[in-house]
Amino acid sequence: GKDGYRHFMEKELHEHPVAIGQTLQRVTDPVTRRITLPDFPFNAAELPRATISACGSAYYAGLVGRYWLESLARLPVDIDVASEMRYRAPPQPDQGMALLISQSGETADTLGVLRFLKEAGQKIVSVLNVEHSTMGRESDLVLGMVAGPEISVASTKAFTAQLTVLAALALTFARERGTLDTAAEQELTAALLDLPSRAAEIFSHLEGIRDMARVVAQARDVLYLGRGSCMPIAQEGALKLKEISYIHAEAYAAGELKHGPISLIDQTVPVVAIAPSTILFDKMLSNLQEAKARGGRILAFTDAAGAEKLKDVAEQIVVLPDVDAFVAPILYAIPVQILAYEVALLKGTDVDQPRNLAKSVTVE
Ligand code: M6R
Repeated sequence: GKDGYRHFMEKELHEHPVAIGQTLQRVTDPVTRRITLPDFPFNAAELPRATISACGSAYYAGLVGRYWLESLARLPVDIDVASEMRYRAPPQPDQGMALLISQSGETADTLGVLRFLKEAGQKIVSVLNVEHSTMGRESDLVLGMVAGPEISVASTKAFTAQLTVLAALALTFARERGTLDTAAEQELTAALLDLPSRAAEIFSHLEGIRDMARVVAQARDVLYLGRGSCMPIAQEGALKLKEISYIHAEAYAAGELKHGPISLIDQTVPVVAIAPSTILFDKMLSNLQEAKARGGRILAFTDAAGAEKLKDVAEQIVVLPDVDAFVAPILYAIPVQILAYEVALLKGTDVDQPRNLAKSVTVE
């Protein structure tokens, strides 16, 4: 049941810290406290390339995964939505890895890519919530996220659990490929292990997100901006808003704003910024100043240091706990999903069963 929550989505949003924590438990050696994954069906040090494919939110998790695999493990990654990957038919290397991500393990497009890439000689690694699924049976290795059942059509805790598995995978590959020294590995592992507590803190400050929701609920169009590993979190935010509140939203890499979408900006189009204090923050800040100068209403998710710099730019700021830039996409996904939920509540839509949508899409 819903355990006293109004919707499954609300319940599942509150389960983010537990889903991340249980997933971490699965991938952490209890004695050494190191991230430890099951043996791979290949030698990670010699892996030439990875191909990632998935749909919807799982695809956005894959985009963050690409960022981590490339930057930490120096592994070249090709990625596309599953419905395009198969027909684009990119050439595959010998002994490559295909990484499929799916909550249900039953999504027709993703399963189609799995079979296609298996045929093309790739080793199949799947990141799944439902491990005993069709994709689970057909994979060479299943990396389970431990999110528990997800009932709401809008994916919530499975998304952060997927990211947690992908972060663990990137750290493991980095170690095996010798691209990260022990001190750095320890620092990033500590940031990851600290996440369940940081994530839990978000739920004691929901008022700021509710204030933001009141602005967003009145809009017809909303722009979400991100950069780097938080760009896919902007995409996740825009998808979730469309999905459950039926408000049109689009995500852009903040640097792309002046190449087109800035012409949309006025007082009626709120701009939601995913802006943790990372090395990209100052660039984001100047993009937001440009948007504000065109009358844009800036709603920002940031941390204490970012809030200080954004105080004259953003109309509303939700201050999130300080975390290492590595794990910021996982943490920031949570308030972004809560925002969509709060907007849907104000709109009075059917949150758990949005129109035209199914929990798992088993036709192409
Ligand atoms: O079960 P899957 O993870 O393969 O599902 C993929 C997408 O259909 C799913 O993430 C969809 O985009 C969600 N409804 C998003 O909230």
